[in-house]
Amino acid sequence: VGGSHLQDSFRSRFFRMGVRAPSRLLELASQSLLQNEALAIAALEELPIELFPPLFTAAFAGRHTQALKAMVQAWPFPCLPLGALMKDHQPHLETFQAALDGLDILLAQEVRPRRWKLQVLDLRRNAHQDFWTVWSGIKASVCSLLEPEPAQPMQKRRRVEGSKAGPRPARAPVEVLVDLCLKEDTLDETLSYLLKKAKQRRSLLHLRCQKLRIFAMPMQSIRRILKVVQLDSVQDLEVNCTWKLATLGRFVPHLGRMGNLRRLLLSHIHVLPHSAPDQEEHCVGQLTAQFLNLLHLQELYLDSISFLEGRLHQVLRCLKTPLETLSITNCLISESDLTYLSQCPSVSLLKDLGLSGVNLTSLNLEPLQVLIERTSATLQDLDLDECGIMDPQFSALLPSLSRCSQLTTFSFCGNPISMAVLESLLHHTVGLSKLSHVLYPAPLESYEDVRGTLHLGRLAQLHARLKQLLCESGRPSMVWFSANPCPHCGDRTFYDPEPILCPCYMPA
Ligand SMILES: *[C@@H]1O[C@H](CO)[C@@H](O)[C@H](O)[C@H]1NC(C)=O
Ligand SMILES: *[C@@H]1O[C@H](CO)[C@@H](O)[C@H](O)[C@H]1NC(C)=O
Repeated sequence: VGGSHLQDSFRSRFFRMGVRAPSRLLELASQSLLQNEALAIAALEELPIELFPPLFTAAFAGRHTQALKAMVQAWPFPCLPLGALMKDHQPHLETFQAALDGLDILLAQEVRPRRWKLQVLDLRRNAHQDFWTVWSGIKASVCSLLEPEPAQPMQKRRRVEGSKAGPRPARAPVEVLVDLCLKEDTLDETLSYLLKKAKQRRSLLHLRCQKLRIFAMPMQSIRRILKVVQLDSVQDLEVNCTWKLATLGRFVPHLGRMGNLRRLLLSHIHVLPHSAPDQEEHCVGQLTAQFLNLLHLQELYLDSISFLEGRLHQVLRCLKTPLETLSITNCLISESDLTYLSQCPSVSLLKDLGLSGVNLTSLNLEPLQVLIERTSATLQDLDLDECGIMDPQFSALLPSLSRCSQLTTFSFCGNPISMAVLESLLHHTVGLSKLSHVLYPAPLESYEDVRGTLHLGRLAQLHARLKQLLCESGRPSMVWFSANPCPHCGDRTFYDPEPILCPCYMPA
């Protein structure tokens, strides 16, 4: 293509509009340039960097695969936030492949092009939302990672670069950032393609995954995928697969290599009814041994884990860091577990403590009292829903609760508590200036019978009484009641401040 003709054409399309031209004009110009894809590709060498993003957007939306490929190979910014673009324009497999192919071809070459700056290909949908709009002239500021070299007149830039010695050598690997959610038997095609490329260019293309969610997928596939992920990049891991303990055992070697993990959620791990105790012991030991490697863990969620009873000490003593969040839900635990929990070094700075769905009915709650007291300087969120806590146990917790000066949220619905004890709670928490969200159980007196039929008139009276008490203490605020699940449909009636009834409620 004749250089001067090309430049003229290019100038007439872009330069006269100026860089700050309204986005609509940039869009039109980009589309018009893309009508001749070969011309657009040839123009890249001289294209001011400010025009890359609008041209790239137009090429992506219009599925101009050749232009996309060429633009990735000339990308003049450190980061290409492709994920944000894929959010607005439903990714077409071919366009995605073209972008990746562009990168792949380039990585295979020894020498990188003059203006190419790409270090990070970001496929996360919610990262760098602003990039594309900023560079389309809609917004004025740009985050520094994405800042290009200051725009200079082209002649001058060429002279500066011409004075540098030789071509640029091959550089550090390009990072591809992606959040993975593994939940099908088969992977979607874009992910498969990405994994294939990452596997082929292992040393030059690093797959980094901050958030990893594993729902349902055969272990074999999980292991095949994790082989190409840089496991030290995982910071947030959720595993919720209804696994047997032995299956978890096959996964934990990967866990141990996630040394930067900050948040770990394990849900639905069960032990087979007649499994051998020493086998079980072995698997739990494997898991806890990996905890020793998690030196940055801050949040631990254990939900529906059937091997926890009598073993909490084994799990928690391997934690090397103070936790901010500890949530143990829908599990069985013993009194000795609770005692260990109250003494465990890792929980002294807790901000969130959750024990919902843990049956505490028959346990001595003194250790819980000790735990609440130990964490009273930091605790912000306490969740004791559905613990089966009764009046005397709850009353014993109140003095320690009254010391939790940072507490903002307290939820304890689904516990059989009387009105007198709710009133006592109000007295004990009146000095907690940050406490703004409390979800109370509907008091015992608001039920008609043991089956849990609500008496709405009485519920209204009790609600009014609590509100009045709060008002009198100078802390007027909402009182949210949550009733036990309806015996027929399982829905809960809420009261805030009018009743929100379950569908089958029939007035008595
Ligand atoms: C685990 O997945 C189930 C559905 O499969 C869901 O109901 C549950 O809330 C999930 N658990 C957690 C802790 O996310
Ligand atoms: C809680 O445990 C007690 C006995 O320890 C039992 O009677 C009660 O049914 C349990 N509650 C639930 C909801 O499982």
